[in-house]
Amino acid sequence: MARIDLDLAHSYVPHPRTDDDYALLPLRFTFEDGGAYALLGPSGCGKTTLLNCISGLLRPSHGTIAFDGRDVTGATPQARNIAQVFQFPVIYDTMTVGENLAFPLRNRGVPEAQVRERVGRVAEMLDLSSTLGRRASGLAADAKQKISLGRGLVRQDVSAILFDEPLTVIDPQLKWQLRRKLKEIHHEFRLTLIYVTHDQTEALTFADQVVVMSRGKAVQVGPADALFERPAHTFVGHFIGSPGMNFLSGQWRDGAIDVAGRRYMPPLSPSVEAALRAAGSFRIGVRPEYLQLAPERDTQAVPVQVQRAQDIGTYWLLTGTVQEAGAQAGTLRARLGAEAAGLRAGDTAWLSVFNRHTCYYVNEELVP
Ligand SMILES: Nc1ncnc2c1ncn2[C@@H]1O[C@H](COP(=O)(O)OP(=O)(O)OP(=O)(O)O)[C@@H](O)[C@H]1O
Ligand SMILES: [Mg+2]
Repeated sequence: MARIDLDLAHSYVPHPRTDDDYALLPLRFTFEDGGAYALLGPSGCGKTTLLNCISGLLRPSHGTIAFDGRDVTGATPQARNIAQVFQFPVIYDTMTVGENLAFPLRNRGVPEAQVRERVGRVAEMLDLSSTLGRRASGLAADAKQKISLGRGLVRQDVSAILFDEPLTVIDPQLKWQLRRKLKEIHHEFRLTLIYVTHDQTEALTFADQVVVMSRGKAVQVGPADALFERPAHTFVGHFIGSPGMNFLSGQWRDGAIDVAGRRYMPPLSPSVEAALRAAGSFRIGVRPEYLQLAPERDTQAVPVQVQRAQDIGTYWLLTGTVQEAGAQAGTLRARLGAEAAGLRAGDTAWLSVFNRHTCYYVNEELVP
């Protein structure tokens, strides 16, 4: 396994001029040896481009990549000693399941006793033991994809294993099991794993560190709780969570925060207060989980006009609009308990927007 240092940018066009010409904007990042990482972001944000730069399928147009301090920028995937699992199964149909799993090992001249031992282990982990003798061609798509995963996991000597949306063809129930399996395998083998997905649940359950990407940029790297509690960028607040973080416009006016024509004086640290005062206008971020119904005219609460209160089973989802001078100035969504059951469209509800979880954003960046 290896520590992977990136200091690169990539453009698919020969003479990039603007940021839009880059699939990956300049990025400096280290994947620590033995870490489990996810690259998470919407379609087209550059996840596959980054993964292919790491594996060596793509040479970055700018910068360098080093494995354990050794420059590998021009090296092939073979020379980098990388295993990669793709979205769709890559296996040999004419071989048996066992032969497919053994292939990466036999190909490198690993002694047969060791091959058998290792194939047995991996097959057991992926519930493939009973199919080892069967021809791969007759198997269903998800069984084939399990073989692809197994072929990625079977070698012990790789620098890293890269997964590009490997569970796309797997049905939801099995998906959940395999995600858990990959996590167990990571704990047992301590491999450096990098896992690409656009599914936040997949990323947050699999990885210790999630790299959230937006338009060619890594906007935040952190564990699941940091992405949830302190999104570094409004994009992360929005993208992580279901529904995502709420944002309201705020202004600093006469020593207080103005939201939709009301004054608020929440307790702020001196540095946050100074930043908000200097910025003048900013955004206030609060997650639906951290909004509660407050008494009418509560000094930390914002009144909303209820649009609807939906029973989601384990909670109620309240959607309300913030009004200013008869016009809509924002929307808030709150995850509430049974107390929301009595709310009807058109009612006024007061939501505790200012609390210890509230985040402030200037130019879309979190005020630390
Ligand atoms: N071979 C290529 N030639 C030119 N442009 C490309 C090429 N591959 C990707 N791009 C562009 O680079 C950007 C990043 O693409 P990339 O495939 O890395 O995104 P992604 O995050 O993996 O998306 P998805 O979730 O859809 O797989 C996109 O704008 C895409 O159109
Ligand atoms: Mg992709």
